[in-house]
Amino acid sequence: MQSLRTLRYALFAVGLGLMVLVGACGGGAAPAPAATSAPAVETESEAAPVASGPSAEQGKAIFTSAVIGAGTNGCGNCHYVKASQGDLAGPNLSGIGERAATRVPGLTAEEYIRQSIVDPTAYEVEGWSAAAMPANYGAEMSEEEIESLVLYLMTLKD
Ligand code: HEC
Repeated sequence: MQSLRTLRYALFAVGLGLMVLVGACGGGAAPAPAATSAPAVETESEAAPVASGPSAEQGKAIFTSAVIGAGTNGCGNCHYVKASQGDLAGPNLSGIGERAATRVPGLTAEEYIRQSIVDPTAYEVEGWSAAAMPANYGAEMSEEEIESLVLYLMTLKD
């Protein structure tokens, strides 16, 4: 009994010693590479969302802004995006991603939506006047902003 206790104590002490040793070694060697690599990784992972690029979120922000560019009406002034809201001064855009694919032979859904934004008179939605939609969005927005709007409109399904 006594010797077992002593043995346990000895093992415990050796274990402690090892931990201290490892800790000391680790403490000396580990921080150096960690300090140089950690910030680099963080900068990269933060750069992705910060770096601008087309996104549906950006598209939503543009769509819902009251004014686009120098003073052109924002999209939300004429288009509702939930089916339950019905039409406004322009057709409801819920489900436009699916309809867009069927509008013009040869144009993908994304291509049709893009065309609808930069060249609204190229295709007239039945029952609506194409001339009612501002025709200068292509000049008022960057390529990235237009792409973001397309990405956002493709998400409308409610
Ligand atoms: C002053 C009202 C008005 C504003 C502002 C407006 N639109 Fe329109 N939009 C219309 C009308 C009217 C039509 C239907 C006639 C046509 O084919 O152009 C239409 C058609 C569309 C279509 C085609 C819909 C379909 O079913 O094929 C899309 C997509 C669209 N608009 C997106 C936008 C976006 C994005 C914006 C903002 C950048 C915008 N509109 C701003 C009035 C507007």
